[in-house]
Amino acid sequence: MSILIKGGRIIDPSRNFDKVGNILIEKGTVKSYPEDIKKLEKASDVKVIEAGGKIVAPGLVDLHVHLREPGYEHKETIRTGCESAAAGGFTSIVCMPNTNPINDNASVTEYIMLKARTEGVVNVFPLGAITKGENGETLAQIGEMYEAGCVGVSDDGMPVMNSKVMRHAMEYVKAFGIPVISHSEDLNLSGNGVMNEGYTSTLLGLSGIPSASEDVMVSRDITLAELTGTHLHICHVSTVGSVRLIRAAKERGVRVTAEAAPHHFTLTDKAVAEYDTNAKMKPPLRSETDREAVREGLRDGTIDIIATDHAPHSEDEKMVEFDQAPFGIVGLETALPLSLKLVEDGVLTINEMIAKLTHLPSAIINVRKGTLNPGDQADIVIFDPGQKVKIDRESFRSKSRNTPFNGWDLKGVVLYTIVNGNIVYSV
Ligand code: DOR
Repeated sequence: MSILIKGGRIIDPSRNFDKVGNILIEKGTVKSYPEDIKKLEKASDVKVIEAGGKIVAPGLVDLHVHLREPGYEHKETIRTGCESAAAGGFTSIVCMPNTNPINDNASVTEYIMLKARTEGVVNVFPLGAITKGENGETLAQIGEMYEAGCVGVSDDGMPVMNSKVMRHAMEYVKAFGIPVISHSEDLNLSGNGVMNEGYTSTLLGLSGIPSASEDVMVSRDITLAELTGTHLHICHVSTVGSVRLIRAAKERGVRVTAEAAPHHFTLTDKAVAEYDTNAKMKPPLRSETDREAVREGLRDGTIDIIATDHAPHSEDEKMVEFDQAPFGIVGLETALPLSLKLVEDGVLTINEMIAKLTHLPSAIINVRKGTLNPGDQADIVIFDPGQKVKIDRESFRSKSRNTPFNGWDLKGVVLYTIVNGNIVYSV
């Protein structure tokens, strides 16, 4: 069955394409942009999707997802994580290695790839760990994981505290041309902190994580990237200091890219005020000055992309005292409407927003995704940017519901998600 997407506003920022038109999908690929569609509309083997007034874009690409399988299937499985991605308009996701066992060798990578192929509805690209068991001490089997399909390495969830180990990791991965993806946090500075260090943490009597715990490590990682020439990608930027450091590094030509998560450009630490454990994540929600700096970083290109840091945790795990709750919130099914808010607020144009969720993240991991050239695999999202939506966590496809955005009134509804020419989600 072929698919004709009719009359949508097609936006493909990878080639500055922004026109109302039609797309024909055949045998899993973007076949053409036909102008005369009379015959196609009547053909019995063509499914017609009316996209008038809607946006048709390359399927979204998320560089930061915790799929939790193997090991924590009560929070999320590869199947449910992929379904959640599809519902959010994502057609490709990159999964973090902090599973159990940790993805630090080729057999775990192969397990994830096989499960994703057989049970997942979107493309899954794994990241391997930097160090064995994310212990920060001994390099993981990076070469073998690369051969098995890993597109980068990261100890996300844990920083590599030992600078010499991080240097060796950067030197080693250079041979494979993949990025080192850094969770930049100084564990000595964050200590037993559970939220941003500042006025609100003092008011609530909660121990704080200072911005310096991020800034110090971003500075170190940039210094090591400069020393080794390796591509460094910095996860979940949350502070004014990190934005400044990354901006300056880019200006002098360091190979550094960075991401920001929707919760960091939307919320501040005030969201913790009711001891809401669904506002607890690492790095924590910061001050208004930090939030503004992250938004400015996105606007001026210092922060290249938007990534969700989708971190599912079960209700039982989150329904505890704030101190005891695990860090992390789900994000795949709220990312698009929260990113569209940046457009409404004049921070990004719609084209810039789509770029930060499609071809720019793909370029960081060197995969050919996030474009709609004729001949490309047909990974497509169709959404209505103006349609109102009330976030309802009970409707999530994810196994977990840990979001601080429940009940929020936003705009932006995913109507269809298409992967490899197959409709994997529709409203
Ligand atoms: O909040 C977070 N949760 N930050 C991380 O870096 C890890 C993640 C998780 O795995 O739950």
